Amino acid sequence: MMDTEAEATSPVVQSQTDVNVPSASARPVIQMENIHKIYQMGDVEVHALRGISLTVKKGEFVAIMGTSGSGKSTMMNIIGCLDQPTKGTYFLDGEDVSQLTKDDRADIRNRKIGFVFQGFNLLSRTSAHENVELPMLYANVNAVERSKRTMEALAAVGLAGREESNPNQLSGGQQQRVAIARSLVNQPAIILADEPTGNLDSRTSIDVMAIFQKLNREKGITLIVVTHEPDIARFAGRVVFFKDGKIRKDYPVENQMDAAEVLKGLPEITDDDDNDDSDLIETEAV
Ligand SMILES: Nc1ncnc2c1ncn2[C@@H]1O[C@H](COP(=O)(O)OP(=O)(O)OP(=O)(O)O)[C@@H](O)[C@H]1O
Ligand SMILES: [Mg+2]
Repeated sequence: MMDTEAEATSPVVQSQTDVNVPSASARPVIQMENIHKIYQMGDVEVHALRGISLTVKKGEFVAIMGTSGSGKSTMMNIIGCLDQPTKGTYFLDGEDVSQLTKDDRADIRNRKIGFVFQGFNLLSRTSAHENVELPMLYANVNAVERSKRTMEALAAVGLAGREESNPNQLSGGQQQRVAIARSLVNQPAIILADEPTGNLDSRTSIDVMAIFQKLNREKGITLIVVTHEPDIARFAGRVVFFKDGKIRKDYPVENQMDAAEVLKGLPEITDDDDNDDSDLIETEAV
C-alpha cells in the first residue's frame, strides 16, 4: 500500500555529525501514508499531491525542497492541519488527524503546531510581547504563565530586552525571530516554516537558521522548513525533495552546516542593522 518511492527512502537519519540526529527509537511525530490532495476548480481537478508517504521522528530537522507548484505548501497545510488530504492517512503525534472536523483541527493546531511564515504575519501595532502571547490567549493559558513563557521564548530567540518593540521598530530578521518565539509558546510537537527566509537577505537568513538549529539541538524541537535555496537546506539534517506532487528524493544532509559558525565567518554588523548587507559602521551612543 505504501508508495514505493517513499518506501525506498528510509526516514531513519544517518549523519556524520553528532547533533540533530534523533535516536533510532525516537517516536514518529508525523506518519503519513499515501496522501493525495486533489483541488477541485470548477470542472478542473488539480492533483497537487500524488501519494505521499513520510515519517518524521521527534527531534528531526527536515528541509522540504522542490520546484514551484510541486506541492510543498499543500503538504505543509496538511501537516499543519490547515487542510485535509483527499485520500490517505495522517497521524500527528500518535493521533489520527486525517478526517477531523474543522473545530477539532483548530484545536489540534493550537496544541501541537507552531507556524512560521515567509511574511512573518505579526500584528503591526502590537508589541513583540503581545504578538508572542497571542497563541496562548487562544489556548486559555493564564496571565502569569503567559508572561513567563513569552519572556522565555523571546530570550530563546535572542530578543530579551526588545519585548516592548513593535514590528516596525525591528529589523526583518528580528521580526522573524518574534514569529519563531510566537510559534514556540504553546510547546508544539512540531514547528512548520514555509519559506521563513524568503523575504530576508542572505546573512539574516543564516541568522534565522542559527535560531532554528539552536532550538532543534538544545530543546529537541522538531522542525520542517520549506526552502528554495540549497544553501539554506544545508543547515537541516534531512532533505525531502518534491516533484509533481511526489517525493522524489529523501536523504540525510552530509556535512550539515552550523549556521552559528557560518555567521562567525561573516563580517561584523550591528544587530539592529541586520537587514543591510553593506559595510556598516557601528553606531555608538554619543
Ligand atoms: N487552493 C488551491 N486551489 C487550487 N489549486 C491549488 C490550491 N493551492 C495550490 N494549488 C495547486 O496545487 C499545486 C501545488 O501547489 P503548492 O502551493 O503546494 O506548490 P509549492 O510547491 O508550494 O509551490 P511554490 O514553491 O511556488 O510555493 C499547484 O499546481 C497549485 O496551482
Ligand atoms: Mg509554496
